[in-house]
Amino acid sequence: MVEDNKATLTYTQLLKEDLGIFRLVPDDKVIPDYKAGQFLTIGMPVPGENNKIVRRAYSIASHPENKKCFEFVIRWVRKPFPGRLTTELFNAKEGDEVSWIKPTGHLTINDELPNGDPDTRRIVCIGGGTGLAPFVSYAQHLHDIGDKREIVVLHGASYVDELSYKQLLTDLENESVDRGADKWNFKYRAAISRPQEWFNRAWTGQTGRVEQFLRSKIGETSPLEELVGEKITKDNTMFYICGWQGTIDGTMDFLQNKDFVTERNKRQDGSYEVKFESYG
Ligand SMILES: Cc1cc2nc3c(=O)[nH]c(=O)nc-3n(C[C@H](O)[C@H](O)[C@H](O)COP(=O)(O)OP(=O)(O)OC[C@H]3O[C@@H](n4cnc5c(N)ncnc54)[C@H](O)[C@@H]3O)c2cc1C
Ligand SMILES: NC(=O)c1ccc[n+]([C@@H]2O[C@H](COP(=O)([O-])OP(=O)(O)OC[C@H]3O[C@@H](n4cnc5c(N)ncnc54)[C@H](OP(=O)(O)O)[C@@H]3O)[C@@H](O)[C@H]2O)c1
Repeated sequence: MVEDNKATLTYTQLLKEDLGIFRLVPDDKVIPDYKAGQFLTIGMPVPGENNKIVRRAYSIASHPENKKCFEFVIRWVRKPFPGRLTTELFNAKEGDEVSWIKPTGHLTINDELPNGDPDTRRIVCIGGGTGLAPFVSYAQHLHDIGDKREIVVLHGASYVDELSYKQLLTDLENESVDRGADKWNFKYRAAISRPQEWFNRAWTGQTGRVEQFLRSKIGETSPLEELVGEKITKDNTMFYICGWQGTIDGTMDFLQNKDFVTERNKRQDGSYEVKFESYG
């Protein structure tokens, strides 16, 4: 039997009509322990359904060291029909009550290799849209614990105003430049998939869907390899991917022919180089 807890919606920030940042504080003010990359199940009553509680999973964008609140970045699903939970959430006000079920999920950071040695490989995170959320948690967590691995966060969005954590991630990269990569080694890049649209006219960065960071022409290096300054191999890089299934499939199209395997198809010795979570 799942246990529903109560929380208050303490902060909402609409980035645009259908994309928002939401914060929840449990009524007892205690944020339970969880791991970066896990999700919380949020429940709300739906008036059109006799106030039946509808529950959905949302990746936690805040990090386990933040003991003040849970934070999320959530899309209001409108097509083909308004989403049941997100419609209620986008109509809610600060101070409203929601229910939640404790964090869970497997899209967590691997610290060890199957043989028990520390995993010192570069971490590359690929987030499509709101699929960035777990990696915002990773970045803040790895920063707070002083992790020395190289971390690259790649975000894909259709429009520039959907680059939800651009400032936070840019600040983390600037800190890396200031302190030196031996102390904090962090890079953030974004790709805009609809560069031809007027709203995106000022965009000068990567274009196309986020997996294009891995694309290389024969004999050339990919934008990701340019960024990290070496060839990406399964011995030097671990990938984490979240978003649409198409983002995972598109990324694997580039990684499969480099002999990368996912956690779901791990080798007999337990090794793998790609972990992912998707919906839709
Ligand atoms: C592990 C995990 C983490 C997630 N994290 C996030 C996150 O961080 N941020 C985020 O925004 N989302 C996240 N999601 C997605 C989230 O859980 C919800 O699925 C999403 O918000 C939609 O919920 P909803 O109740 O509003 O929509 P639903 O009511 O479930 O509907 C979803 C869509 O399906 C359509 N639909 C529903 N029923 C039918 C039907 N019978 N026929 C045709 N179409 C139908 C609706 O019209 C709508 O377009 C995550 C999902 C998972 C599994
Ligand atoms: N932990 C999790 O499992 C988790 C966490 C958060 C979100 N999610 C899920 O991630 C998805 C992201 O939703 P969103 O509204 O945030 O995304 P979105 O804004 O619609 O799209 C984000 C990016 O993904 C591209 N994209 C859209 N459909 C795609 C497809 N089928 N294959 C490959 N790329 C595609 C878009 O390109 P175009 O501009 O070309 O459309 C855009 O660049 C949702 O399904 C959400 O529920 C899952």
